[in-house]
Amino acid sequence: MDIAKRAQVCIYNPSKGTFHLTNVAPIQVGQDDSNRGCAMAITSTNGSEPVIAVKVDRLSKNYGEIRAVNGISFEVGRGEVFALLGPNGAGKSTLIKMLCTLAKPSSGTAFVSGMDVTKYPKEVRRHIGLVFQEQTLDQQLTAEENLKFHAVLYHVPKDQLSARIDRVLALVDLSDRKKDLVTTFSGGMARRLEIARALLHTPAILFLDEPTVGLDPQTRALMWRDVLQLRQEEQVTVILTTHYMDEAEYAERIAIVDHGNLIALDSPDRLKAIVGTDSVTINTADDPKALSELSGSGFDAKATEKGLVISVANGATAVSEIIAALSVAVSQVVIHKPTLDDVFMHFTGSEIRDQQGTSGEMSRVFAHMRGARR
Ligand SMILES: Nc1ncnc2c1ncn2[C@@H]1O[C@H](COP(=O)(O)OP(=O)(O)OP(=O)(O)O)[C@@H](O)[C@H]1O
Ligand SMILES: [Mg+2]
Repeated sequence: MDIAKRAQVCIYNPSKGTFHLTNVAPIQVGQDDSNRGCAMAITSTNGSEPVIAVKVDRLSKNYGEIRAVNGISFEVGRGEVFALLGPNGAGKSTLIKMLCTLAKPSSGTAFVSGMDVTKYPKEVRRHIGLVFQEQTLDQQLTAEENLKFHAVLYHVPKDQLSARIDRVLALVDLSDRKKDLVTTFSGGMARRLEIARALLHTPAILFLDEPTVGLDPQTRALMWRDVLQLRQEEQVTVILTTHYMDEAEYAERIAIVDHGNLIALDSPDRLKAIVGTDSVTINTADDPKALSELSGSGFDAKATEKGLVISVANGATAVSEIIAALSVAVSQVVIHKPTLDDVFMHFTGSEIRDQQGTSGEMSRVFAHMRGARR
């Protein structure tokens, strides 16, 4: 049922450098705030803060014929860093949008900070910070002005605002750029300011949708330093999407999503352990002889195009035992530990990289770069 609500707009007064909210004419909105009697859920045993930050149960989203999210279920613990990993079009952003009340689930339920996203959208929004996939800063305002604008929208108490702005800017190392226009920021700095902005109203859960897309490796590393620091200092639960395997390694748990389905969920190490053991590849002066010597010494070795591949529990410690078992000269040794690429390949039958580089992805990267240059 559509219901009429009063809408508010945020007005900027450039001479005073202040923002305020004002009411405008009633508008029709699609969200029904009724059924407010629905139970809050998932509190700790002593009834205080929720111990589970997010609980998703058989959540689905259809866009017409497209099944963007297909009956996904998982939980995220408070204070956890949780990554949604998957290729373009996997359904990561759609999932985040449903959790952030920006898209309505077609079926299933989602609780954020103990509240049903469809029944308590306003309350959910107060508990979360969101960094969108696309950059959303006002380029013509300073860093501080962007933060003040956000503070008004999220009702940050005036007496706390100044300290809070200084705090979040310090967290992302931008204190000295407070008075600078965003248009003078690099892409990485702008992204870090967006994270600072998302933290301004002290959210319990921070959603980051591809926070590092289009950034160079050094800036990505800086961003991660910020994210892990704020998790530690502000006890924020971090839920992020990425299709960078190395980035997903920072997470305590990874949910691999493909074609709207949750195909694996565990810690990076346990996911890799599912795929298999380490392997050591060697090239020798006489591979057939080396193979027979290794087999005779009890190694699980096989001849491949790349050389002899030996499966071992721990590649680093096995190398000296392998060499000791051989009478022939060894010209090259390569140790391979299972990677998240292997995990993705294991579960989907294709490499995540094969599915990257679509026009959508590239245009987003360029749009991000353009935004940073404006
Ligand atoms: N507003 C929309 N209307 C119609 N289809 C949509 C809409 N948003 C997403 N989709 C479709 O839903 C599917 C999942 O898209 P989504 O944006 O969630 O993927 P993603 O995993 O975030 O991908 P990417 O890595 O490219 O950001 C895609 O097939 C996409 O085309
Ligand atoms: Mg996305």
